Amino acid sequence: MKTRKLKCLILLFASIYSGNVISEENRIAEDNFASVRDKLQTCFVCHGENGASTQPTYPILAGQEFYYLYVQLKDFKSGLRNNAIMSPIVANIEKQDLRLMAEYFGEQEWQGAEFTASPEQISAGKKVVDAGQCVACHLGAFNGNSRIPGLAGQHFEYLNKTMLDFKNKQRNNAQPMNALFGTFSDDEIRAVSQYLSGFKE
Ligand code: HEC
Ligand code: HEC
Repeated sequence: MKTRKLKCLILLFASIYSGNVISEENRIAEDNFASVRDKLQTCFVCHGENGASTQPTYPILAGQEFYYLYVQLKDFKSGLRNNAIMSPIVANIEKQDLRLMAEYFGEQEWQGAEFTASPEQISAGKKVVDAGQCVACHLGAFNGNSRIPGLAGQHFEYLNKTMLDFKNKQRNNAQPMNALFGTFSDDEIRAVSQYLSGFKE
């Protein structure tokens, strides 16, 4: 009798113990981003902790949707979008890791820049938004969707630069955008950048 009780007790402890081990393993297995954690640290240097960039020339990635981010990374890799900083960075990263990184940033919470546009900038920016029918694609609150980037709260310096890049055919991964920005002056592009960066619902 005594030995049976002891055996039961041992089995009980063994099962509890192995149960803990299994759940610990599951916890580790649940980190889908384990293979890119180290590489993500490099991204954080410019794009901020978890992609919430606080530096105006580095776009906020946190909370931008997965598919848009993935397309950009693939485009930097293929040369369709060209940038002296980003192109060499992604050149050495496999597509499956780029995908994981895009997923990672897509899962973070969007934290917009703290930019306040002046009343003049707002009214000049609104005119551009109406003329270019931006809300038809970027949606009323400029939050975008899986294929279309969110613009509200993005850094104005970055927005300004990338729209000028579209205009001057430096960024060629969306031809309708090249045509659209070709119709605006640099001042108008600057005004709409400020309007969008400071945009609050
Ligand atoms: C040395 C600074 C630096 C580092 C490191 C860096 N980036 Fe960038 N990233 C930039 C700059 C600058 C741009 C804007 C490029 C442009 O103007 O076209 C950018 C743009 C991007 C964009 C496009 C965003 C958009 O809204 O279109 C993505 C996506 C991106 N980076 C992802 C990454 C990932 C992932 C990593 C890490 C593997 C990374 N970046 C590392 C500076 C950096
Ligand atoms: C027909 C749909 C459409 C319209 C209209 C449109 N956009 Fe876009 N926009 C897009 C798509 C799609 C992209 C992403 C292109 C890519 O994959 O690089 C984009 C990209 C952008 C980007 C780059 C954002 C980033 O993070 O790099 C900016 C800025 C932008 N649009 C601003 C505007 C503004 C301002 C207007 C109005 C004047 C406008 N767009 C009108 C579809 C549209």
